Amino acid sequence: MKGVFITFEGGEGSGKSSQIRLLSEYLKRTGFDNITTREPGGTDIGKELRKMLLIGDTEKFDAVSETLLFYTDRRLHLTNKIWPAMARGKWVISDRFADSTIAYQYYGHGKRISMEDLESMYRIVAGDFKPDLTIILDIAPEVGLKRSYAKADTMVDKETRFESIGLEFHNNIRNGYLQIAKNNPERCVVLDADKTIEELHKDIIRVVEERFVGKQLDLF
Ligand code: TMP
Repeated sequence: MKGVFITFEGGEGSGKSSQIRLLSEYLKRTGFDNITTREPGGTDIGKELRKMLLIGDTEKFDAVSETLLFYTDRRLHLTNKIWPAMARGKWVISDRFADSTIAYQYYGHGKRISMEDLESMYRIVAGDFKPDLTIILDIAPEVGLKRSYAKADTMVDKETRFESIGLEFHNNIRNGYLQIAKNNPERCVVLDADKTIEELHKDIIRVVEERFVGKQLDLF
């Protein structure tokens, strides 16, 4: 793969989408061709899966069905969008990827599905492909959920299936992400997201610079 794959992760309302937009614009200005995308919903079929997964009753899927649907979305995303773009040398920035499944379906839901099964699913879908960098935006769920509900108020279809699960679920997700970062120090960086958009953008640029300067790319 010639391109670079950066994923953004975090709980509800952590500000991923604004930060991805700013990073993408910044990279374009600096001469790095990139696309932004998201999970679920990065492909045409994925958009249908997104509606199924994010709208409706919290208990409408059992843990295995829900996880398989996220992995179906991920496989289509990789084969139809991420890998072809990277093969053309593009940077791909994704709003969520496989760490979301570990944070939400594993840690969030009190480990209703085993890590062993999650790892097998990952291998089937992605092989040994991994993000080059994962930026985890850390925020207290009380703060993030407030932001997230304000955004949902403006949506026609309310994509709030996960937001509406209790605070314990969201605290588990936050702690889950911190554990993922601890287990993958080479790949993951945790940033405090309780900052202004501009401050956080600067932190992200610093991380991208540190990771890639003098390595794969002469960025700055
Ligand atoms: P978002 O794109 O607005 O962040 O919404 C995606 C929602 O889907 C969010 O609540 C997290 C959830 N999700 C999972 O539970 N597992 C996954 O694997 C992914 C990609 C997302």
